[in-house]
Amino acid sequence: MAVYSTYIGNRPCKDADMKKRKLEESIHTDLSRDDDYTAYLRLDQLLGAQIPLSEPPHHDEMLFIIQHQVAELWIKLVIHEIGAAIRHLRTDELPQAVKNLVRVRPVQSQLYNQWKVLDTLTPAEYSEFRHVFGKASGLQSAQYRILEFTLGNKSRATMAVYEHQPEWHARLEAALFEITPAQVNVKGKTAEGLGAIGRGETLRVTAVVLLTS
Ligand code: HEM
Repeated sequence: MAVYSTYIGNRPCKDADMKKRKLEESIHTDLSRDDDYTAYLRLDQLLGAQIPLSEPPHHDEMLFIIQHQVAELWIKLVIHEIGAAIRHLRTDELPQAVKNLVRVRPVQSQLYNQWKVLDTLTPAEYSEFRHVFGKASGLQSAQYRILEFTLGNKSRATMAVYEHQPEWHARLEAALFEITPAQVNVKGKTAEGLGAIGRGETLRVTAVVLLTS
């Protein structure tokens, strides 16, 4: 008979307390390092990216870092879905565009609801480690700006903080100068100037693109 031993806290556990569940047969155990869950999700990089700067590490800095990283991941998905929705709209694939947009809504709920976790950090606790990240601020979130630009809220002035990050700057510039349907106003009128009906000869169409700096 197999002997199971583990501890709950510092109390030895009785055999009867433990789950004696065997691995299901469909679960692969012959994995190489290149094709397992950790490799596919790049978990070594992802889980290695929470590096508190406080010395000694302030307990709550981990929460602060993870909260922002998770938000950035969700924002990445929103940009991905909205980009696809725009491309689908341009090719008149409305059902696909709606599917993309329907997904964005619960992601926004996630972003909103995660504030509940941050609510557990008091202003006093936050101020104990705020100084370690110096000039860093959510105001510099490049993805947040890309999302804003994509949705039509474009501002060239906000680009100034990305001068030192050429790759992000290039992505932001692309989003800044991409013309979205909301910026284009198309007007058509009869060329012969006889009101809405005219003589049915020609139609003059003008497209006005709203560009702001
Ligand atoms: C203790 C928690 C937080 C505090 C005290 C805080 C504070 C601030 C402040 C004061 C600003 C205004 C700009 C500045 O002075 O730096 C700001 C902007 C911003 N924060 Fe936070 N923030 C917190 C959490 C978060 C989280 C979790 C996110 C998620 C990504 C976030 C993203 C942003 C973004 C994107 C902006 C720019 C908003 C805009 O330009 O309209 N912040 N934050």
